[in-house]
Amino acid sequence: MESKLVIALMGLPARGKSTMARKIARTLELDALKVQVFNNGELRRKLGQGNTSGPEFFSPDNPEGVQFREKCARLNLDQAKAYLQDKGDIAIIDASNVTRKRRQMIEETMAGWPILFLECMNADEEALEANLERKANLKEFAHLSPEEAIDSFAKRISYYESIYEPLHMERNRILVDSFAGCILQEKLADVVPYYDRIRDLVTTRIVKNLFLVRHGETFFNLVDRIGGDSQLTEKGLAQARALAAYFSTVRIPIIFTSNYIRTLQTAAPIAEMQEHSSLIALPEFNEIHAGVCDGMTYQEIQAKIPEVANARKRDKYGYTYPQGEGYATMEQRIHRGLQKVFYLNNYDDNIMIVGHRAVNRMILSDFVFRQKEEVPYIYMPQDRYYHIQIDPHKKHFELKPYANNQLKDS
Ligand code: F6P
Repeated sequence: MESKLVIALMGLPARGKSTMARKIARTLELDALKVQVFNNGELRRKLGQGNTSGPEFFSPDNPEGVQFREKCARLNLDQAKAYLQDKGDIAIIDASNVTRKRRQMIEETMAGWPILFLECMNADEEALEANLERKANLKEFAHLSPEEAIDSFAKRISYYESIYEPLHMERNRILVDSFAGCILQEKLADVVPYYDRIRDLVTTRIVKNLFLVRHGETFFNLVDRIGGDSQLTEKGLAQARALAAYFSTVRIPIIFTSNYIRTLQTAAPIAEMQEHSSLIALPEFNEIHAGVCDGMTYQEIQAKIPEVANARKRDKYGYTYPQGEGYATMEQRIHRGLQKVFYLNNYDDNIMIVGHRAVNRMILSDFVFRQKEEVPYIYMPQDRYYHIQIDPHKKHFELKPYANNQLKDS
């Protein structure tokens, strides 16, 4: 029987700590362990009088703010301690814990149990910026304009940066790049229960529900023209409405699209039917760029530049369109797009991506192994969607119709 464990997260705001906490908790629960996340921020919002999300509240030179946050941290730790003394196996302290002093408080309060400090970092500026934009949508910033909310959050981060002290003295520590999903450093002085499991988890992608949708029919689709930035036809708009009705009972807080009109037009009614859903357009999910063939039909390519059509037939995955892309050259950007998706999406939330034929094939192949030469032929219809679920115990992929078929909330 393994003993009890404290996992103390550490890191600047918006570095993916809460997602990490929930991912560890939800997955270890599947192994019948009792795990609970103790979040300082939730206590702050619950106990704080008035608005505690303004940047000055987080200034190290604001004694009232410092005192109040200290009080929340103490209370949170006391609750975590009581949980471990009682029935809990693992207590996860979800807070920034960026100072040695705060971490000492954890060590003192939790003395007797092993503590694993897990720092989440992310040096990817673009992903960080996107995360700030997403946070600006949170309820606690509802009284501010998006620009003011981003400013306010950035200021809050800079206060944390001013007091940040890296992990060093802590006996057991692991540094994780939460955007890339890899471990950068690790050092254990004690036997840390469940460590192999946690280590594996940190680098494994877990997908509760990912709905991978292809945009509805476009005017270009009607005549088999590739690329371009065509609009949806009447049928395409009806498909978007059918998708919206079908998913109306399933909570989807963020819908990811490409920058093209056809994915935005497909996603818009779906977002409208949700209580509160935002659209995030990622250039990484733009359709394969057909270079000199953009806007042509397959017949025109065959007739006018047969060497392109023939070379592509011989090696569709490896072929790159002149002045454009190929499946192989898209691999990296698609992978990066997915890293953004998992970084920006809250761990427990369902995910929807509205993409394109080639893009969706590449997204699918990022999850499920397919021989490279098979990827460009994966079936990607416009009247169905792929439902993807992955956890350490199972992988599930299903192609489902969305019309005349109500989905249960999953
Ligand atoms: O026809 C729609 C489309 O998304 C094009 O824009 C794109 O070039 C093509 O499908 C990708 O499919 P394939 O690789 O099979 O040509």
